[in-house]
Amino acid sequence: MTTSASAKYVADFKVWRGNQEGGGLEDYRVAVNEGEVVLDIIHRLQATQVPDLAVRWNCKAGKCGSCSAEINGRPRLLCMTRMSTFTPSETITVTPLRAFPVVRDLVTDVSFNYAKAREVPAFVPPEGVEPGAYRMQQMDVERSQEFRKCIECFLCQDTCHVVRDHEENKESFAGPRFLMRIAELDMHPLDAAHEAGLDRKRTAQEEHGLGLCNITKCCTEVCPENIRITDNALIPLKERAADRKYDPLVWLGNRIRRRPAGRTE
Ligand code: SF4
Ligand code: SF4
Ligand code: FES
Repeated sequence: MTTSASAKYVADFKVWRGNQEGGGLEDYRVAVNEGEVVLDIIHRLQATQVPDLAVRWNCKAGKCGSCSAEINGRPRLLCMTRMSTFTPSETITVTPLRAFPVVRDLVTDVSFNYAKAREVPAFVPPEGVEPGAYRMQQMDVERSQEFRKCIECFLCQDTCHVVRDHEENKESFAGPRFLMRIAELDMHPLDAAHEAGLDRKRTAQEEHGLGLCNITKCCTEVCPENIRITDNALIPLKERAADRKYDPLVWLGNRIRRRPAGRTE
């Protein structure tokens, strides 16, 4: 290990190394300087001891969402986790996101999330209004603007217990990030999904697994953008879905639509 003269202290790290076939934690001692984040230490580890250590990163500014990993078992961005969070005597464990398959070392295959993103029908433009002519009141978009801060780091997807320990739920559950996307579109004042025959509330419930969410708020706790995923997106979406289900007019409409041809009652 190379320790620069300016190093403030030397930290003990355990870093997961391996691939799809398996792997384990390896011990390292790495120099730490004033003001550094965990990603700096991982980079120093690459530069001085393990040049083939795989880690995904891009902006080092908390904006690209690519450096997601688990630090001491908690989903976090490597570039936004300050070393000052830990005491110098603490051993820091860095492992890949647990809910997704490992590619190598700290890099995971997050394609599950892209598949889920594709399953959410896009914004449906209102008929007869050209894109440049869209007009919305600030008060109508205030709430859903919060959801646009998402950097797609997938930490919320990783921490959600519905898929974290239950691989079998992945098929039927979109995860907090994409349920939030459905909520955002459902709140959009110009989204014409309903007119186009698409009931976003029903599909959230029946096709994207909204009912599997039991509002534990773990997703909200790990979101680096501090988006209140559960309180502002998931719970209101659940409420709207329930209102829709028990709304007598909706019930009557569904019953009429379902009535077999020729039956009069
Ligand atoms: S609140 Fe729902 S979506 Fe968020 S972590 Fe809990 S179960 Fe998952
Ligand atoms: S909602 Fe938050 S935690 Fe989830 S992907 Fe977006 S930024 Fe990351
Ligand atoms: S490197 Fe972009 S969010 Fe960490």
